[in-house]
Amino acid sequence: MDFQLTEEQLAVQAAARDFAQTELLPGVIERDEHQKFPAEQIKKMGELGFLGMMVDPKYGGGGMDAVSYVLAMEEISKVDASASVVMSVNNSLVCWGLETFGTEEQKQKYLTRLATGEIIGAFCLSEPEAGSDATSQRTTAEDKGDYYLLNGTKNWITNGSTASVYLVIAQTDVEKGHRGINALIVERGMEGFEVGLKENKLGIRGSDTHSLMFTDVKVPKENRIGEDGFGFKFAMQTLAGGRIGIAAQALGIASGAMELALKYSKERKAFGVEISKHQAIQFKLADMATNIEAARLLCLQAAHDKDAHLDYGKSGAMAKLFASKVAMETTVEAVQIHGGYGFVKEYHVERLMRDAKITQIYEGTSEIQKIVISRELLK
Ligand code: CAA
Ligand code: FAD
Repeated sequence: MDFQLTEEQLAVQAAARDFAQTELLPGVIERDEHQKFPAEQIKKMGELGFLGMMVDPKYGGGGMDAVSYVLAMEEISKVDASASVVMSVNNSLVCWGLETFGTEEQKQKYLTRLATGEIIGAFCLSEPEAGSDATSQRTTAEDKGDYYLLNGTKNWITNGSTASVYLVIAQTDVEKGHRGINALIVERGMEGFEVGLKENKLGIRGSDTHSLMFTDVKVPKENRIGEDGFGFKFAMQTLAGGRIGIAAQALGIASGAMELALKYSKERKAFGVEISKHQAIQFKLADMATNIEAARLLCLQAAHDKDAHLDYGKSGAMAKLFASKVAMETTVEAVQIHGGYGFVKEYHVERLMRDAKITQIYEGTSEIQKIVISRELLK
């Protein structure tokens, strides 16, 4: 067992840290307040290779391992979780899904531009009536011979109004249940495709979350990913890796909050000493650091499993379940350590606390992660 990162992994981590501190930190409070999508910053992330990190260089990606991806996600998320969710969706849901299951034509047409960040993608599974219960899709993709006729509504879609390419999961044959579901590549601008209003959210307010409406959208057959009926398995397999990205996002939110709390505790004085001299504060810091280290090890374990081509469904779900809990607990305590200053925007920790909550909800709630983990245990 080797806990040492390679030189390449350390370089990726340093580059992500530098980008987050110099490009994301200035303006992050304003973007959160005004729900402003970090468009310029995302463009730069694409240029630096952060949007297609694990994609084969022959399709314009960085050819990196999942461990490097986790390290970069942590650094970006320490500062701006709105930017890191764009990164996570593009890398681990859209690019990975297309690279793993797409045809060569689909890769040439879409992946090459998604991996470089020239365009960004969205992953569309959730619906108003189908979130955790993902097999109960109501969106239909009727087989019309050489195209599918797509009708329905998707909810809560990250990159909803900024994406150019949408991977849409829809029901073709209700009788077949989950085996009747397909995954289709839908392009922005296809006739009958409409983007709904932007959601006004508690956290990750800079990210772009919308409902999407499809009315008789004709999607060519060559835009189906995988065999007929593969859509649900496509979604599940893709989400298994996506959960590692969100686990790393949660880890970053927690470690960002911890760094701020540690620094503040050495500056703020109460009862004649720095508050870090009070044992109650020291114990909070000790708990935070221990939990974060455990979350980091789970994230790296899941990434390692993926890199080693081992099954990572359980380890990814464990990483997400634990890291998201640690993100919530750590950010609440970071606000507490900051006292009243923690409750105002300029100290950053209140935003991290609001951002942390979503990591327990999207890409499968914590309850769903427990279902995934326990099913593996009981197999
Ligand atoms: N890989 C491959 N196949 C899988 C799989 C996996 N990881 N998980 C399930 N399957 C297969 C099963 O083997 C089964 O196929 P067979 O019948 O051929 O064996 C089929 O899928 C159905 O599986 P289940 O019976 O387990 O399905 P279920 O209805 O009980 O649901 C679930 C399982 C885990 C709860 C699933 O519905 C789920 O993951 N729900 C959560 C949905 C989710 O995570 N949504 C996230 C949306 S994207 C997002 O949120 C992005 C973002 O925020 C940024
Ligand atoms: P529900 O499924 O209705 O769950 C409600 C509660 O019941 C939860 O606590 C849940 O854990 C619990 N519950 C449900 N079933 C069970 C069970 N069997 N056992 C125990 N407890 C259970 N989706 C996409 O497809 N693409 C995206 O890009 C995307 N981005 C998102 C961005 C944001 C900001 C948000 C808020 C959501 C996003 N989602 C996206 C949707 C997200 O994945 C769903 O919200 C999530 O999967 C939960 O579904 P739901 O909201 O319908 O909750």
